[in-house]
Amino acid sequence: LQPIAAKRVDAGYLTDLLGKRARDSHKGKSGKVTVMGGNYGMAGAVRLAGEACLRAGAGLVTVISRPEHQMTVNANRPELMFWGCELVDMEVYLRLGWADVLVLGPGLGKDDWGYNLYKAVGLSDKPCVLDADALNMLAKEPCKQPNRVLTPHPGEAARLLGISIADIEADRFDAVRRLHDLYGGVVLLKGAGTLIYDGESLVVAPVGNPGLASGGCGDVLSGIIAALMAQGLDTMTATVAGVVVHGEAADLAAKSGERGMLASDLMPFIRQLVNSDLI
Ligand code: APR
Ligand code: MG
Repeated sequence: LQPIAAKRVDAGYLTDLLGKRARDSHKGKSGKVTVMGGNYGMAGAVRLAGEACLRAGAGLVTVISRPEHQMTVNANRPELMFWGCELVDMEVYLRLGWADVLVLGPGLGKDDWGYNLYKAVGLSDKPCVLDADALNMLAKEPCKQPNRVLTPHPGEAARLLGISIADIEADRFDAVRRLHDLYGGVVLLKGAGTLIYDGESLVVAPVGNPGLASGGCGDVLSGIIAALMAQGLDTMTATVAGVVVHGEAADLAAKSGERGMLASDLMPFIRQLVNSDLI
C-alpha cells in the first residue's frame, strides 16, 4: 500500500455540519432509521443503538428485534417504534424499504434469526451501518459494497482480515486500509485513536476516553452515525462526525468519573452536542 497522510480530527470537525433545524421542519425531514439486532440475552444492545439514534436527531427510529424484547426496548423509551420479528419473511423486506438508513448488528447473535436479517439487509440497497455480529457474518462471506459503514473493534477487524488481534494492533493504519480494499465503503477501526478510511481520506480521531471501555458504548456509536446519515450527511462525514460526537459525549460524561461510566450516560450529552453551535 502506498503511504497516505492521515488527517487528525477533534471537536472542531463538527463546525456547521447540520445547521439549525428549519422552523418548518417535520419528522420526515430528519430521516428514518431501522435498527436491527437484539437476539436473546442482548436486547439492551439494540435499545442503546436506537435510543442514541433518536438522541442524535433522527426523526423516526424503528427497532426490529425478537418479539419477546419489546418491553426491554420500549421501557422508558416509548418514542422507539418496535417490530417483533419471529421469522424473516416478506414483511421484513417491506419494513427495510421504509427506512432511509439501516443499522444491523448490535446484539445480533450468530444464529439463523440473525443470519436471515443479515441476508435481508444484503438484498436491500439502503445505506447501512454494519456492526458487531453482522461483521462476523460478513467475514464468512466477504463482499464489497460502497454505501455502508463498517464499525469493527480490533477483534472483529481481525476476523474480517483473517489475522490476529495483535497483527491489527501492530499496524492499525495498514489494517483499516486493507479492510477498505476488501470490503469497500467507509471503515471505522475502533479503539483509543479510532481510524476512519473511505478509500480517499484517512482520518485519525483521538477522541473519547477509557470510560468508553464498557459494554454497549459501541452500540451507541452505530446509532449516532446512522442518525447523522439520515439527516443528510454523506457516509464519510457522518462517520467521522459520529465518532467525534461519541467521544465528546464520553468526555462530558467522564466528568463524574471514567470508571463506572455507562453507555446510557452518553445519551443526554449526545443531544447537547448535536444541538451545539458546533454541529
Ligand atoms: N479510548 C477511547 N475510546 C474507546 C476506548 C478508549 N480507551 N475504549 C473503547 N473505546 C470506544 C471504541 O473506540 C468504540 O467506539 O468505545 C467503543 C467500544 O465499542 P465496542 O468495542 O464495539 O464495544 P461494545 O459494542 O459495547 O461491545 C458489546 O458488541 O462488538 C460486540 O464483541 C462486542 O460483544 C461485544 C458487544
Ligand atoms: Mg460492539
